[in-house]
Amino acid sequence: MQDPGPVDSPSPDGSPVSGLRWTEELSILGETLRLLESFFDGLPPFQVDWKVDPMRRELLALARELADNDPYFHPLYAGQMLKPPHPVARMAWALSLFINPNNHALDGGRATSRLEKSCIRSLGQLVGWTDPLGHLTGGGTVANLEALWVGRERQPSRRAVVASEEAHYTHRRMAGLLGVPFVPVPVDSRGHMQMAALDAILERADVGTVVATVGTTGWGAVDPVDEILVRREQHGFRLHVDAAYGGYFSLVSEHLEPLTRKAYESLGACDSIVIDPHKHGLQPYGSGAVLFRNPEDAQVYAHDSPYTYYTASGGHLGEISLECSRSGAAAAALWSTLNLFPLDPGGCFAKQLWDGCLAARDLADCLARDSKWTILNRPELDILVFSARARSVREAGQFNRRIFEATRGQGLYLALFEVPGHRLVSAQPALEMDQATVSVLRSCLMKPEHRSWCGEWIRRLEAAWAGSVGKAARIP
Ligand SMILES: Cc1ncc(COP(=O)(O)O)c(C=O)c1O
Repeated sequence: MQDPGPVDSPSPDGSPVSGLRWTEELSILGETLRLLESFFDGLPPFQVDWKVDPMRRELLALARELADNDPYFHPLYAGQMLKPPHPVARMAWALSLFINPNNHALDGGRATSRLEKSCIRSLGQLVGWTDPLGHLTGGGTVANLEALWVGRERQPSRRAVVASEEAHYTHRRMAGLLGVPFVPVPVDSRGHMQMAALDAILERADVGTVVATVGTTGWGAVDPVDEILVRREQHGFRLHVDAAYGGYFSLVSEHLEPLTRKAYESLGACDSIVIDPHKHGLQPYGSGAVLFRNPEDAQVYAHDSPYTYYTASGGHLGEISLECSRSGAAAAALWSTLNLFPLDPGGCFAKQLWDGCLAARDLADCLARDSKWTILNRPELDILVFSARARSVREAGQFNRRIFEATRGQGLYLALFEVPGHRLVSAQPALEMDQATVSVLRSCLMKPEHRSWCGEWIRRLEAAWAGSVGKAARIP
């Protein structure tokens, strides 16, 4: 790997990129650890059998192994949904590991169970729920599984799960796991669930849960939650919202396009919602969340455990979650982050989210002005999908794959995305449709710093285009 350009390197406009160096975090962690340690000072000493040198050797070996990663934390990384955890989250997580609480039951993690409940109340604010049922999970997959499972258990029979063709693949898999049919709904030209197609499905199938995606994985598209709600009135299904990616954007919904804003304004009426703090919430991996509007959904989780739940009646998070042992450190990290960045539409965190959206729009505008590129979406959130111009769909795919490799050589990190060829043809109508699907370039502009790096990003992209496609491209 090339020099990743550490987080303290200056941006092209000369301003500092980030306040902290990684190693500086250790001094804060040291100070907080000394305080934590002092609370346990009264315990009789005991022997531990560990030696410094072998550990140091192994950790140095690990550091070398970890070098085999792309620099996900840097503004020049703009590929997959990878956003660096905030230092406060990292340090809170690390601090908690010295206790290693387990949020399954109160006797394993009293403090962090309390913090987790506080986090769930905060996340509830994103959809206007004051004290929702819910808990953190290992990630979006388990969170969605729980919502679909609760949906299945609260229905009279094994009814179908319906989600758009652009919904995350997990929904089809989880429906299979739950033994219920899965029905995909076609999308419109912007990747939104088509209402006419949903109507046709609702007429012919026994639908238990409709999943609306708020921020699709590929395009960051937002399904029309408000319109789906109208159909819920008529058909009585449950509405689950997969906002694993897009949930936090409700803080900036007033700036979004009118239809997107309407979808966000309707979130409070859904039955359940998934929001992943490890996507946009500045958290390390292992941080998803599922929330339910109706506290009575808790009855689906009802079970007893002969080993736990003896310290108090009620209040154990394991009583309302599918996973058993769960990291209390995840709750600690999220709690500290939410204290530092309250979920306030006018606050600093909201501004940072909006900066990512602006970065995606700026880049889209820049590329649209250049005849070498075709834009496939006007970013609804902060995900931009684009392609090199070519004569045919097949050629565009070849160009994009070459550019993808070449950008890495330029120290710019994008992602590839396989989409139906007609998506590219509708953006560039002169194109010959000689292949069903095509690899295009995709970029998740999740970091607020992305905005000030747009110029540098374009410069490197142009160099990659010149070095890989260059003269081969006869632009129609
Ligand atoms: C919309 C959506 N739902 C669910 C998931 C799955 O989440 P996780 O990877 O945290 O399990 C993702 C992941 O990208 C996603 O984008």
